[in-house]
Amino acid sequence: MVQMYVDRLADELTKSLDKSPNSGGLMSEEGTALVTKFVQEPGVREWLNGLDVLQKVRLWGAGKDGLQILLHGAETAKKGGPHDHGSSWALYYQVTGITVMTTYRRMTGLDGEPGEADLEVSGVQELTPGNAMYFGPNVIHSTEHPSPPARWIRLTGVDLDHATRLRFSLERKEAVLD
Ligand SMILES: [Fe+2]
Repeated sequence: MVQMYVDRLADELTKSLDKSPNSGGLMSEEGTALVTKFVQEPGVREWLNGLDVLQKVRLWGAGKDGLQILLHGAETAKKGGPHDHGSSWALYYQVTGITVMTTYRRMTGLDGEPGEADLEVSGVQELTPGNAMYFGPNVIHSTEHPSPPARWIRLTGVDLDHATRLRFSLERKEAVLD
């Protein structure tokens, strides 16, 4: 039953992407609306809340070069370091709890390239249930979950397990390939 809704979400997202592959703004808006509709379907919220999120859960994936729908969770307080998603876009959609999202501007070095990287915070936003945040390629961000539990859906344009991406050290002011 729930699988039907997952398949439909994937289908609708794919159609939206095909229609306007380079329009991040549209993906942000339509993607958020489609995920909202998905989590409101009968049984979906309960199903998402019941999944084991110790590791990320792949709800749907179109091969390594296609759309991915992942569920992530924090059962204990955690804080991630700054990173990018390489050439992929991403949409973070909050299902339960809160994600504190920090975005950064890179003051030294080149976008998407490892090496010297002095970061300056460009924004801090609390993502609450039903809200989403879209990132275009190479946008540097970090997540924090100070008040668990929290669950969120992350859509990406490709499978990040196979993508070239960067992790940043604020202390060492450098970017390294992940
Ligand atoms: Fe991320």
